[in-house]
Amino acid sequence: MSAITLSSASPTGLKVDAVVIGIASGDDGPALLAGAEPVDKAFKGTLTETLRQLGASGKADEVIKVPALGKMKAPVVVAVGVGSSAADGTPAHREAIRRAAGAAARALSGTKSAAFALPVGSAEDAAAVVEGVLLGAYSFDAYKSGDATPPLEAVTLVGAGVKAKAVKDAVTRAEAVGTAVNRARDWVNMPPRDLFPKAFADTSTKLGKAAKLNVEVLDEKSLAKGGYGGLIGVGQGSANPPRLVRLSYRPTRAKKHVVLVGKGITFDSGGLSLKPSDSMATMKCDMGGAAAVVAATLAIAEIAPKVAVTAYAAMAENMPSGDAQRPSDVITMYGGKTVEVLNTDAEGRLVLADALVRSGEDEPDLIVDVATLTGAAVVALGPRVSGIMSNDDDLSERVHDAAERAGEQMWPLPLPPELREKLDSAVADIANIGDRNGGALQAGLFLKEFVPEGVPWAHLDIAGPAFNDSAPYGYTPKGGTGTAVRTLVQIVDDVAEGRL
Ligand code: BES
Ligand code: MN
Ligand code: ZN
Repeated sequence: MSAITLSSASPTGLKVDAVVIGIASGDDGPALLAGAEPVDKAFKGTLTETLRQLGASGKADEVIKVPALGKMKAPVVVAVGVGSSAADGTPAHREAIRRAAGAAARALSGTKSAAFALPVGSAEDAAAVVEGVLLGAYSFDAYKSGDATPPLEAVTLVGAGVKAKAVKDAVTRAEAVGTAVNRARDWVNMPPRDLFPKAFADTSTKLGKAAKLNVEVLDEKSLAKGGYGGLIGVGQGSANPPRLVRLSYRPTRAKKHVVLVGKGITFDSGGLSLKPSDSMATMKCDMGGAAAVVAATLAIAEIAPKVAVTAYAAMAENMPSGDAQRPSDVITMYGGKTVEVLNTDAEGRLVLADALVRSGEDEPDLIVDVATLTGAAVVALGPRVSGIMSNDDDLSERVHDAAERAGEQMWPLPLPPELREKLDSAVADIANIGDRNGGALQAGLFLKEFVPEGVPWAHLDIAGPAFNDSAPYGYTPKGGTGTAVRTLVQIVDDVAEGRL
């Protein structure tokens, strides 16, 4: 999508292809949301009854188109449902609005322009609408040779107060966030043939430099020389060698330093512990964590909070070959700990361990890692909820709260100390797998061993939400979702405000 224009004029006078309004599902049918008044007036107060006759209920993801037949400049009204909406001003309400804006934007693909007359009573509400629009108007058709339907092109956000400075600032932030989420989606959606570690590192470098970030890339030679046994071990079976990308954002007068670490397995075949074909099919999404931290850092550089941020993206391709690491191999991680690799498919924790240890050299106040780490997290929380694990229960709650305000579903999981012994190895310091009970927690406990001493750390297991196998909904397309980008930006904003 090209650009968002703000207008305090009535949507009925705008020369656009459609005007979007919101409807909630009330006790007796659909109820118009704030913003729809001028449109209802143009319909002489008949809009609710018209929608009722068209079968509208106002439930989430419902999109009903009503021809305007000259009652206003635009030829069609698009009514989008928000469900039985939560109380105004709550994160749940804003998320309902965000999803509705996304559903409308998706329904308008192939349309050039639209005005969104949804509730924008506060700057945060306006930002939610803009995020929903940008995320809903996403399409990935770089690999289609025919004429793909183009996404909605131009959007006008209408509302009485939208010209206020606070709204403009919130919209600018929402545009940076929306662009970042879509960028992460593009990376996840790209075929692994094209997005291998070096290619991913190269685009990250290009974009990082353009955003005035400091960029460092360790290639396979420097990784081997530096003793990054996890990245080398996982990457050694592939013709596409590993990379560790470090991006740093350093504003003046930053009081705190946040490190972000992302799992960047550009394809996870499982290695010699090969995955069955069905589980392998979506494994191009296994760099979703790295995509989120790189994209979020680019957005942060644009939003420019007074917090130093360093992002590590640990990139490797996990393949089986004559050079691949074997189950029972022992590798030495960055920093010297040894790991017995009992299952080469538990590779994410190996590349993350190197990056976590390395991040200690930056003396961070907080580390957040993001990874499509375990199928067990999907079993526990389903496909739409990410797990939060931490060495600090209070931090876990604050991250949960940040995620909720950002509109991402996450839930705290424990790291029970008694599970740690399942990772005991007969030959090395630790093994990379335990048993299947509480697999997400065991993976978290493994990572915890590599977190620099005394540093608060949160681990986000995004294995479920990173990739949407099913039909699109709200602002979420099929395929890569860009999950965790919004939460990471929110966490850094919260740190800047002294809230986290
Ligand atoms: N990348 C997978 C986890 C995953 C599963 C991500 C489903 C997205 C959707 C990870 O590397 C993996 O293979 N984990 C194993 C760990 C096991 C061998 C201990 C798993 O979950 O089966
Ligand atoms: Mn794996
Ligand atoms: Zn993996």
